[in-house]
Amino acid sequence: MGKYVIAGNWKMNKTPAEAKALIEEIKPLVKDATCDVVVGVPFVDLSVALEATAGTNIGVAAQNCHWAKSGAFTGEISAEMLKEMGVGYVILGHSERRTYFGDTDVTVQQRTRAALDAGLTVILCVGEYLEQREQGVTGEICAMQTKIALGGVSKEELSRIIIAYEPVWAIGTGRTATAEQANEVCALIRNTVADLYDVEAAAALTIQYGGSMNAANAAELLAQSDVDGGLIGGASLKAPDFATIVAAAK
Ligand code: PGA
Repeated sequence: MGKYVIAGNWKMNKTPAEAKALIEEIKPLVKDATCDVVVGVPFVDLSVALEATAGTNIGVAAQNCHWAKSGAFTGEISAEMLKEMGVGYVILGHSERRTYFGDTDVTVQQRTRAALDAGLTVILCVGEYLEQREQGVTGEICAMQTKIALGGVSKEELSRIIIAYEPVWAIGTGRTATAEQANEVCALIRNTVADLYDVEAAAALTIQYGGSMNAANAAELLAQSDVDGGLIGGASLKAPDFATIVAAAK
């Protein structure tokens, strides 16, 4: 299976000074991690995050990027801007971007293309709403989001894609998917990728679970055969909890 990656999604939390303090707290706790560790910080924190993580095993992610190289897109940030700063990862297609900021499967695909072209690694989020799960279309929704986002992505470029399965009803709600539910959809996403590319490429892909993953439930979720890591929101803002999740990713 794919290599384990534990990524924090800080969302709109922490000023630059607070970000520096949190990273300093996280650093010693995760220095012996056997998985990849990433912190996804607000744009204005990228600079201090890169400085504070220099020479460590912690990678830095932005939480979005635009699909164009440059232009009249007030308030947006391009993938090349991130790359030039030294940022390694970008979270794309998060359900909060899709729900509140109008991201669609097509714009997620365009952003993914731009990020790969700039040399970034993409943490691509897919997941169903509660009504969709209740209607029995979770598999279709996640397969469709995956297929559209990966449109035009080559097999070589797939090594710079991480997919995060995040059921929207589990995000920030304290209502985690069961380990079986998480594994079932992660396996389905892997099969979708196998259909698009091949079984080897799908097996090498890192597929994370995200949605109320915390220090108490991480070990069980991460032990599932198709779960290769986590995208962590709330619990990533507490250094000891984040470190416990990192330690559970073996
Ligand atoms: P949560 O958020 O861990 O707070 O549920 C996960 C995410 O949105 O990536």
